Amino acid sequence: MTTETLHTTMSGEEMVALSKKHTLFEWSAQSKVDPIPVARAKGIYFWTPEGKRFIDFNSQLMCVNIGHGDERVLRAIREQSETLAYANPFMATEARARLGAKLAAITPGDIDVFFFTNGGAEANENAIKLARLSTGRHKILARYRSYHGGTAGSMMLTGDPRRWASEPGMPGVVHVLDPYHGIARGWDTAEQSLAMIEEVIQLEGPNNIAAFILESVTGTNGVLVPPDGYMQGVRALCDKYGILMICDEVMAGFGRTGEWFAINHWNVVPDIITMAKGLTAAYVQLGAVGMRRAVADQFKDKVFYGGLTYNSHPLACAAALAVISVYEEDQLIDNARRMGAVMRQLLDDLARKHPSVGAARSIGLFGLVELVRDRAKKVPLAPFNGTSDEMAALGKFFRQEGLYTFVRWNTFFTNPPLCITEAELREAFAIIDRGLEITDRAVA
Ligand SMILES: Cc1ncc(COP(=O)(O)O)c(C=O)c1O
Repeated sequence: MTTETLHTTMSGEEMVALSKKHTLFEWSAQSKVDPIPVARAKGIYFWTPEGKRFIDFNSQLMCVNIGHGDERVLRAIREQSETLAYANPFMATEARARLGAKLAAITPGDIDVFFFTNGGAEANENAIKLARLSTGRHKILARYRSYHGGTAGSMMLTGDPRRWASEPGMPGVVHVLDPYHGIARGWDTAEQSLAMIEEVIQLEGPNNIAAFILESVTGTNGVLVPPDGYMQGVRALCDKYGILMICDEVMAGFGRTGEWFAINHWNVVPDIITMAKGLTAAYVQLGAVGMRRAVADQFKDKVFYGGLTYNSHPLACAAALAVISVYEEDQLIDNARRMGAVMRQLLDDLARKHPSVGAARSIGLFGLVELVRDRAKKVPLAPFNGTSDEMAALGKFFRQEGLYTFVRWNTFFTNPPLCITEAELREAFAIIDRGLEITDRAVA
């Protein structure tokens, strides 16, 4: 723990009490929330007002990819705010113009035109709108092990249990199974999974299906890296039936997997790509929908019925441009690949040493550990959509030791900022190594 001077007028306890009294915390019963008070952050660390330091091993919400407090980004935001903090979306601004052109250069293939939003959910809402308007079809295929956002339509695209409380919602979404079936059943081959998807397409009527939306690498539902051939197969099925392929890169994009976009690992070009989080590394909120020229051309004469007061917000566009420069200048995507190889080793070491590790998956600096109470039978240490005393104890240990990461169901994540060094990675894994002694005790 460090004890440097911090610049808040409230104590951590006051922040928590007043936040809990007057603000609603998301996805939670309010009596159960126990937020960490945060006063400041720099690089891969953040601090409470009392000076307790945390390693940010989840890049907050898998979004602060460049690390905290980068002066180059802060300067760009400051300069933009002093010149032009806002112009409405019917105007053209330099930040908007430059960001569109830059994204066209770094996104896959011939993705060339962008619509800006406030975040990932709105990006997916508008992706669906674009797909429906441009194909004249209404059904959308999505997968069960997915999260696509908390707004009305994106909630229905979402396959995981966060959808349930919002049902019934927007009609027309059909969920298909993933190649992964949980730690006990494991993986289908790409061929098996694609055959199931094609069967669903036949049963729903190919001519009714506008789009198939899928996370290129599934995020909160388990860092699920698709088997080779799967994404190419989805592309081929979409081409065969005139369905638009939408890749949700909100979490997996911007270097997280060691490529600008995760779909690049399979050399596939989607028709539409959605992004947020790493686009601005969360310094300012921004999402975007990118589309191939052929999709954009549909709206040359036809009206695009979509809009947002903060579409193409100059402050956010300027922040995104500065953040993209940081990825380039500091070669953060190369670093994600290099440190990803180190993290792979560290995850393998954990799997060898700890009987409670049932699986450890990663791609680049996108990682997750699944814990089990029986390695042979692969019984998860917490049930689907639930928790357990052991998982709660592990979360408590991480917090006490100053390691912040997501602990969900029987899993925890390893998603540090892409600027992390090998020494910092090892420091975090040393804490995890000690924490897993708790979960090992639950193994039969
Ligand atoms: C894959 C994916 N899509 C969409 C979203 C929604 O993004 P936002 O919370 O910015 O609306 C998220 C958020 O975690 C996500 O992980």
